[in-house]
Amino acid sequence: MTAAVSLRGIGKSYSGKDAASFAALHDVDLDIETNEFLVITGRSGCGKTTLLNVASGLATPTSGTVTVDGVDIWSISDAERSGLRNRTMGFVFQFPSLIPGLSLEQNVMLPLEFSGVEHEDGPQRARELLDLVGLGHRTEALPRELSAGQQQRVVVARALVNRPTLLLADEPSSDLDEETEDEIMQIFSRVHSEQRLTIAMVTHARNLIPFGTRHLEMGDGTVRADGADPGANGD
Ligand SMILES: Nc1ncnc2c1ncn2[C@@H]1O[C@H](COP(=O)(O)OP(=O)(O)O)[C@@H](O)[C@H]1O
Ligand SMILES: [Mg+2]
Repeated sequence: MTAAVSLRGIGKSYSGKDAASFAALHDVDLDIETNEFLVITGRSGCGKTTLLNVASGLATPTSGTVTVDGVDIWSISDAERSGLRNRTMGFVFQFPSLIPGLSLEQNVMLPLEFSGVEHEDGPQRARELLDLVGLGHRTEALPRELSAGQQQRVVVARALVNRPTLLLADEPSSDLDEETEDEIMQIFSRVHSEQRLTIAMVTHARNLIPFGTRHLEMGDGTVRADGADPGANGD
């Protein structure tokens, strides 16, 4: 089976003010396998966000190849790459980023508009997804009327509206209390098992490891083999 995303020999350097460049990633070989719920943990600054950005084509690797659904994403045009990303991926970041002036339903439908395809069933799809995250009764509410945890649930609904095959999550619950974190993780588990969605989540929170079907540890800009000694990681 083709991996959802394959990273081979990935390096990513950021150049600093002085000529020296800093390698945020080096020698990363990683497959995000179709249908898995991969949890990657590592302390703050080890390169988790950079890894997700490279895997999704948001950031250009300095070396190596990124293959999404069998396509080398840096061999295609910018437009093709963003099209591929819109069709295949949904994103959840640490801080909920909803548009303040739009209702929850309108917020959830936004990616449909960006995808440039007519979606007559948009409002219905948005309501179904808000239902899925337990907010089906709040479709007309504005983001500011919700708690941070509820807002993050709307973000999850929005991430799913294009029917992605891969959900990428960057510290999706680290700004939330434990109970709310658990709600988000239950939703992830549900969409993973019921909709066979592939999920890759990066987090410093080792307590989230059990929610995944596979765990990898990151350290010093690289991903360690499954089951390797995690060492003294964790924030
Ligand atoms: N745009 C950038 N320019 C320069 N350095 C960066 C940039 N983004 C991240 N870094 C550095 O790369 C390293 C990895 O960052 P990041 O991927 O954000 O780690 P994490 O998400 O695990 O906290 C850190 O040392 C960070 O300071
Ligand atoms: Mg990060």
